[in-house]
Amino acid sequence: MDWGLKNRLARIIKPHDKRGVMLAVDHGYFLGPTERLEEPRKTIAPLLPHADSLMLTRGVLRTSVDARYPVPVVLRVSGGSSIIGKDLSNEKITTSVKDAIKLNVSALAMSIFVGAPHEHESLVSLGNLVNEGEEYGIPVLAVTAVGKELEKRDARYLGLACRIAAEFGAHLVKTYYCENFEKVVKACPVPVIIAGGPKLATELDALKLTFDAIQAGASGVDMGRNIWQSDNPVPMIKAVKAIVHQNATVKEAHEMFNMLKGAKKTVKPVIRSNQKS
Ligand code: R5P
Repeated sequence: MDWGLKNRLARIIKPHDKRGVMLAVDHGYFLGPTERLEEPRKTIAPLLPHADSLMLTRGVLRTSVDARYPVPVVLRVSGGSSIIGKDLSNEKITTSVKDAIKLNVSALAMSIFVGAPHEHESLVSLGNLVNEGEEYGIPVLAVTAVGKELEKRDARYLGLACRIAAEFGAHLVKTYYCENFEKVVKACPVPVIIAGGPKLATELDALKLTFDAIQAGASGVDMGRNIWQSDNPVPMIKAVKAIVHQNATVKEAHEMFNMLKGAKKTVKPVIRSNQKS
């Protein structure tokens, strides 16, 4: 593998344990102002120190992330449809590799829509993006999107989609967790990370999802809503990170979450000497 490509990938999937915690905040590209991501800067800032990498669009990167902060960026470069449009699978590459280089990104990300009306276009786009990314040593993350057809979220479908992404040259694949997830991972020759999906009922559920995915061989998470839609996003990302990088159990991670959450609430206000009591 080319040195630059290997170096960039190592910023995302850490070489010491071959795992990574990617914070997903790209939702606005088709969902608009998603709940609790209405003001991206406010959502992202407190979480940045705890994320191994950040996945987002160039618009939010430029407007809402301090350029001096050294977080590896995974840039979403596909889009073209919205949640209120006719067909979510009708995406194209919307950001040039030249712009991605100017933004100093560590990886490019795009969605593929296996089994959807625009399957062909999205797969050809993936092949082309890998061709172009490899010219500059930039890896590509393929996002297996299922859109509205959620019933397809099983190991057979996701295994098919992930494998196709890897065959087209994706260096990393993001998919959803499902039963028999180990089959999806085993049949995919590049690292697989999981999206969290819509916010689950409790943080415990999301930690369990993370744990089960890691146990089944996932290389980490690319998680959004289950972190920043939590009432306690920083304790949540720290608990997810403990599972991914420290092999914490669900119980340990949940205890950590509760402890950090409690600590946050009991922090005493600082009384400065010039303040009246
Ligand atoms: C979906 O394609 C978006 O790219 C999100 O990045 C992805 O779904 C991960 O975020 P969440 O954990 O909220 O599902």
